[in-house]
Amino acid sequence: MKREIELNKPITHIAFIMDGNGRWAKSRGLPRTLGHKEACNRIIEVFDHCKDYGIKVVSFYAFSTENWKRPKSEIDHLFKYLETFFKKEIDHLVRDGVRVVLSGDLSRLPEKTQKTCYKAIEMTKNNDTYVMNICLNYGGKEEITRAARQIAEEVKEGKLQVEDINEQVFEDHLYTRGLPNVDLLVRTSGEERTSNFLPWQLAYAEFVFTKVHWPDFKRGPFVDCLKEYNNRNRRFGGLDHDKK
Ligand code: IPE
Ligand code: IPE
Ligand code: MG
Repeated sequence: MKREIELNKPITHIAFIMDGNGRWAKSRGLPRTLGHKEACNRIIEVFDHCKDYGIKVVSFYAFSTENWKRPKSEIDHLFKYLETFFKKEIDHLVRDGVRVVLSGDLSRLPEKTQKTCYKAIEMTKNNDTYVMNICLNYGGKEEITRAARQIAEEVKEGKLQVEDINEQVFEDHLYTRGLPNVDLLVRTSGEERTSNFLPWQLAYAEFVFTKVHWPDFKRGPFVDCLKEYNNRNRRFGGLDHDKK
């Protein structure tokens, strides 16, 4: 599809906190679970919008380490919808050169969900045009703690020297190893917090918050977020690029 605007600075990696499914459903008198079902339809659409804008890496926060606090039936529905999503979209993803990355501790997920995830990873592992990073049972604190533990093990085994630990080594132990840092984070539904999402990778990201609930996050609201990003001045601690 044609671009509505031109980006005035690159976006290599965009990340979405897909929030507001429950409120979207409630406002329509529907059960929360139907909000999650509709939400899954937006994932591939938003991914395609990103492609139109030349964005190569897209992360989606699908389930957090904190979301286990929810009722079991809601959690079960969520995983079921995600499975359906992968089954429905996998051919499309393979064909379009998308590598699927799953960030998070998958071992706690239902066996069927794990299988579907690993199959998607396997089927797309040689693709290198785009990356779809689905964050599932993901927690930023868990990711960092896990990296620290792995690094400590390597030091203990003599594979790594303490003085060789640097930011690159640390990044290589994150779920997102090999992916660029996030340029733009979008959170839907009006909440203005990161809820334990990609703390390391967001260190210099621009944050855009929109009141639109994720199931309503269609092309129009997506482009509005890009417009807001266009108005930002990214300095990275240096001097203002426009006024040098
Ligand atoms: C986001 O929508 C999906 C997940 C957290 C899994 P919510 O289910 O949090 O929707 P609200 O915030 O209750 O509206
Ligand atoms: C964040 O949304 C997690 C996901 C979108 C998967 P939540 O709805 O769980 O976040 P809080 O509870 O409002 O912080
Ligand atoms: Mg929420």
